Amino acid sequence: MRMVDLILKKRNKEALNEEEINWLIQAYTEGNIPDYQMSSLLMAICIQDMTDEEAFHLTKAMVLSGDTIDLSEVDGKTVDKHSTGGVGDKTSLALGPLIASCNVKLAKMSGRGLGHTGGTLDKLESIPGFSIELSDVDFIKQMNDIGIAIIGQTKNLCPADKKLYALRDVTGTVESVPLIASSIMGKKIASGAKTIVLDVKVGSGAFMKDLTHAKDLSETMVEIGKKFNRNVSALITNMDEPLGEAVGNSLEIIEAIETLKGNGPKDFEELVLHLGAHILVNAGEAETIREAIGVLKTQIDNREGLNKFREFIKAQGGDDLVVEDYKRLPQAKYVYEVKSENKGYIQSINALAVGVYASKLGAGRATKESDIDLAVGLKMKKKIGDYVDNDSTLGIIYSNEELSDESLNEFRKIFVLTHEKIDKRTLILDVVK
Ligand code: URA
Repeated sequence: MRMVDLILKKRNKEALNEEEINWLIQAYTEGNIPDYQMSSLLMAICIQDMTDEEAFHLTKAMVLSGDTIDLSEVDGKTVDKHSTGGVGDKTSLALGPLIASCNVKLAKMSGRGLGHTGGTLDKLESIPGFSIELSDVDFIKQMNDIGIAIIGQTKNLCPADKKLYALRDVTGTVESVPLIASSIMGKKIASGAKTIVLDVKVGSGAFMKDLTHAKDLSETMVEIGKKFNRNVSALITNMDEPLGEAVGNSLEIIEAIETLKGNGPKDFEELVLHLGAHILVNAGEAETIREAIGVLKTQIDNREGLNKFREFIKAQGGDDLVVEDYKRLPQAKYVYEVKSENKGYIQSINALAVGVYASKLGAGRATKESDIDLAVGLKMKKKIGDYVDNDSTLGIIYSNEELSDESLNEFRKIFVLTHEKIDKRTLILDVVK
């Protein structure tokens, strides 16, 4: 087979067959196709698209390119959850323990944050002693004993995706539904869980900027999942403003704990309950979403979710006393309460700008190798549609360096005000299954 023929075929809007897709993914992973040819094909895919059949074969080829995780030794129902990434997205931290307290087991390989979005592993590492490394045997044992384990990627899952994603990032070929869908679903299928719930973010802080594309992506991923015999649902959720209040590693741990105590921000709690409810229904633990939400609320009220979080921290070597004593987490030296200087309704809070601001404080990485500051971050005290006057607190900044008035002003400017009344954002925009 010749790569140039496949490029021409795709350029002419023809579908690639299974054999062609397998060949090109294998040859590229082994270093037998140069980046310039692969870039050309990726751009042709971006422009000419792929059929559902091609997206499925591409996903399968991604899975076959590396290791897969066998969860067959885990007793009971296993579930995995994926978010396409957003600012203040600490959902797995509250959701995992909550569903594990309902006998549905969360097996999750997480990543670190890069740029304006934080990574679950970094957040967990703000808990003193917490280890994200578990051997295969310990991983399975922990899943059987307490029903939740979150670790870093140790296995070589989807090496083809790793290589392709790096190339897409620098060739303007990230935004393609079949490429994103096969990249995400390849990793989820290789990770082994039978039930998968996807949180597809849409809005200014997400890479899907509009509902139509988010829906198309969700439908493609759900269809791919079905072909692999997985139970997949996708919730399309708003990322026009940060999720919850906290943005920054230890601050997000505190917010997840507060949510498990029943004191979480309303939007964050809503997302956790809905994702959790879809998981319980898909795993056969509840008949309806309504019933499942009731079950999850009970697990918050009776502190079973919180107890599970504690067990989880302890099992991975962390200091479980942080649950009661937040001073045991990294603390920032300076705390600034930023007040509004004008009156009006909040029209927009650019989630991307919030992520970038937190990242500049040290909460995020500029490059893969950068160190991050686990103590710093932001608490966003207002949401789109809230009314503020000239003494309302917009947010709180936690920093390890003194901040200038200019920097505080830069934060203030993230909140755009108007005199017109503004509707609150709907968080859950659609469900695809
Ligand atoms: N996240 C992924 O894992 N892959 C993509 O292609 C885009 C987002």
